[in-house]
Amino acid sequence: MTELNTVPSRIAHASSHLDARLGGASFLRRNMRKIFPDHWSFLLGEIALYSFVILLLTGTFLTFWFKPSMGHVLYDGPYEPLRGVMMSEAYASALEITFEVRGGLLVRQIHHWAALVLMWRQKHTQMPGKGRTNRNVVGAPFYPSFMAKSGAYFLFTLGVIAGLATFAQINPIWLYGPYTPADVSAGSQPDFYLAFLEGALRIMPAWEINLFGTAEAGTLPMSVIIPGLVPLGVILVGLSLYPFAER
Ligand code: HEM
Repeated sequence: MTELNTVPSRIAHASSHLDARLGGASFLRRNMRKIFPDHWSFLLGEIALYSFVILLLTGTFLTFWFKPSMGHVLYDGPYEPLRGVMMSEAYASALEITFEVRGGLLVRQIHHWAALVLMWRQKHTQMPGKGRTNRNVVGAPFYPSFMAKSGAYFLFTLGVIAGLATFAQINPIWLYGPYTPADVSAGSQPDFYLAFLEGALRIMPAWEINLFGTAEAGTLPMSVIIPGLVPLGVILVGLSLYPFAER
């Protein structure tokens, strides 16, 4: 039997042939040994990434039961206070996830908390500062140390978010009842897209100034002008000055 006919040598032959065409070995060598910086600030980006992975996993779970439908149904589930109430199929299915699907409430709350943790993140590439790691990257190679550490950080993030979801209730939708858009005090929906802007609008007293003392001449809606311009102005001016302050 010639050497080429043994199974290991055939595999070696085939893989070096493949590698010659695809360059996989040098890709792997380069990337498995890629050094990941050890600066603590990179952890913030990792927390955001792991929260997103948690969102993907829990979101996939939720899609099995959630019905994104505005069709109306009469609620006849186990939650007494809402029995016999007309509601959207979407809301009814979220109630079903909450009260009937095993672990459903926990997963809903994990999904919601992970979404909040994801948004609380910081752009980590700015630190430790421009050019400061370019020449001398201090850290651990991707495989195995960085992979092991990342796995542990992922589990730690999951643990903290699951703890929050267990002990800190969030979005108890059964207490709110079916959604009636006309009941909101301020019209922009969904309110969280506008965050502090919407919050500022809602806490501002209904203050209007009628020009020349009459509404016919025109009205200045201070209840919109002040919360609309002041917080955003402070933030945008602050953001544009920040690079100078940081330098
Ligand atoms: C950046 C990514 C995401 C964010 C910020 C996000 C955020 C949210 C939030 C805040 C809710 C309301 C949760 C509640 O009931 O209190 C929700 C619901 C839901 N999400 Fe996501 N999500 C994300 C990704 C995903 C993905 C990837 C999936 C599916 C694969 C998914 C599937 C769902 C489903 C089915 C619901 C409705 C069930 C429910 O309200 O509990 N989400 N999402």
